[in-house]
Order: sequence, then C-alpha cells, then structure tokens
Amino acid sequence: MHIFYGKASLMDYLKSIKTIHSTIGFVPTMGALHQGHLALMQKSLLENDTTVVSIFVNPTQFNNPEDLAKYPRTLDEDVKKLTNLNPNIILYAPTVEDIYDGKPVSESFDFDGLENQMEGKFRPGHFNGVGTIVKRLFEIIECTNAYFGEKDFQQLQIVKKMVAKNHLKVNVIGCPIYRESNDVAMSSRNERLSARERDEAAIIYKVLTAVKEQFATKSTAVISEWVQKSFGNNPHFTLEYFTIADEATLLSCTRKNKNKKYRAFIAVLVNNIRLIDTISLN
Ligand code: PAF
Repeated sequence: MHIFYGKASLMDYLKSIKTIHSTIGFVPTMGALHQGHLALMQKSLLENDTTVVSIFVNPTQFNNPEDLAKYPRTLDEDVKKLTNLNPNIILYAPTVEDIYDGKPVSESFDFDGLENQMEGKFRPGHFNGVGTIVKRLFEIIECTNAYFGEKDFQQLQIVKKMVAKNHLKVNVIGCPIYRESNDVAMSSRNERLSARERDEAAIIYKVLTAVKEQFATKSTAVISEWVQKSFGNNPHFTLEYFTIADEATLLSCTRKNKNKKYRAFIAVLVNNIRLIDTISLN
C-alpha cells in the first residue's frame, strides 16, 4: 500500500496517475478505523479509479484538550485493516506540521447558521476546525467524490455547504450509519467505552427508534420530554441534547410541516465520552 506522510509527495504521486477522465474517491478519517469507515472505502473503491484515505487527528476541531489527548491513535492497526481491504488504497497520514505549516488555527466560516445548532452549541469552534481541515484535504487531494458517514449528519450538511459556498468541484456523498450488534452507532470513540458501557449504550438507539414511532402521533415537545425522562432515570448517562430538527436547516422543529424532512439528533455523555446518533423520522 502507498503511504504518504507529506502533502508534496502525495500531490506529485496523484498528478502522475491522473488522466482526463480518471476519478479520485476520498474518505477523510481520524483513524481508529471501524466497519463504518471501511464501508465508506468500499463504496469509494467501487465508484472511483483511485481511493485516497486520510488519517489525521485534527487538533483544531477539538474544543476539549482532554478529548484530543484521549482520542484513539492506532495507525499500525489501521494500516493492516486498509491493506486487507484493498492494497491499492492510498493512505495520507500527515503530521500537524504538514497540514498547518506551523499555524494550527482554524479559518472562520459562515455555514448559514448550520454551525450554531447541536454540536456547534456544545463544541464551540468545532465546525470551523472541521471546515478548515476538510477544505485543505480537498485542495490537496483534488478528489472527485468524498464520502462521509451520516452519523455526523450535521458535519455532512456543513461540508456540503462549504463545498457549495466555495464552488469546490467535489461531490459530497453521505452514507448510512453502521451499527454494532446491539445497534450502538459505530464510532472511534466507542473504543474508550468499557464492555458494560458499550452494552448500556444500546439505550440510545432504542430511544431513537421509539421516537420515530411516536413522531407520527405526538408533538415534538411531548417526545422531547419523554426522551429527557428516559435518560433522567439512568445514572450512567447524561443527555447533552436531544432535538428533532429540519434536515435541511437543522433548526428545531416546533410544528411539523409535511413537506419537510425531519431527523432526531442526540448526544449523550457516558463517563465523559460523548456519543452521538441520529435517525430519519419521515
Ligand atoms: O468525521 C471525522 O472523522 C472528522 O471530523 C473528519 C471529517 C475526518 C475531519 O477531521
């Protein structure tokens, strides 16, 4: 497998294999790869001539230094997983210096308010960090298609907005959430959960599926109150937010409109580890 640690050599290599009609699929990750990541890569391998994967724990998108320090870093295992999946994958695993040239700071973006909801409220500066790194990676890799998981649905919408506003020539493709056998959404952060916490985290998707059932007949206020109570009884979980929002604007839904698409979004803290999940409601 080709592994590049610096952007100059990666760009030279990609230039050398590029033809007028060839396509590059790109899967950006922060490593600690799981089946959800591998599914994005499989889709990219099917749909493109070349697939590039990046592994980079981006410091500018972490508002909490402890979260950054504890984020799992498993490059050797990740390389094995990528090689097993397909040895033709090109891996870009840059250093902070290679990406930020000595200045690891975010650009400031206007995502038309998408950044002020949910994750943006609880993780100040997070989406400026995401926008900065994704834009830089798109510029380096010059990908045709880029693949993102729907677990981070707000991130997906923000990346689409960033591409549209900057007139970047990249198709941003959202892919379904992969779940563990107990339906916990796959996430690199799950590695930090104990076996018991992993089992108990099954409550998150149970609550979301119950919300989906209730959505047809109950108001969003009644549903939200029910969700608060479901977590209020559980001493191991702290509900950070639950909201039912319009998929396009991410604004909370107070009154349902049958012409709009809605999703439930949830963030829960388990022993200080943040887990997020989402479900489409209609
Ligand atoms: O979703 C992630 O893993 C990260 O936010 C991303 C898109 C790789 C940017 O650092």
